Amino acid sequence: MLDVFKSLFFGWCIVAIATPSFAADPDHGKEIAKRWCASCHLMERGQTSATDQAPPFTYLARTPDFNANKLAFLLLLPHPNMPSVSLNRAEVADMADYILSLK
Ligand code: HEC
Repeated sequence: MLDVFKSLFFGWCIVAIATPSFAADPDHGKEIAKRWCASCHLMERGQTSATDQAPPFTYLARTPDFNANKLAFLLLLPHPNMPSVSLNRAEVADMADYILSLK
């Protein structure tokens, strides 16, 4: 298990280093979240239906040190009830910015 953890981590570092910097776009992040996450997670204020097992995005926003890297990392870990989504680094960063805007 530790080896899997390490290879995921180092794999991610290489991606992070190889990707040029860019400005994240929280509005785009919101669109992605609406499309891919809203069926299970409460992802915006006023949303009324979601599953009760998935943590609301406001909860994620309050996770200590929450940022794009952490979100990408969490998305790489297998979650039993969550389908694997493939998002690129820019999309993850946009979503992280959106989530942080909910704080
Ligand atoms: C089919 C339902 C479903 C969808 C769609 C879904 N999730 Fe989840 N997600 C869950 C559930 C259930 C959990 C809690 C799993 C657990 O505790 O093991 C979870 C947990 C998480 C966590 C917390 C991980 C942790 O360990 O703290 C994050 C971050 C997350 N989801 C992000 C997302 C994002 C971003 C999207 C959209 C791209 C998404 N999820 C789409 C069901 C879903």
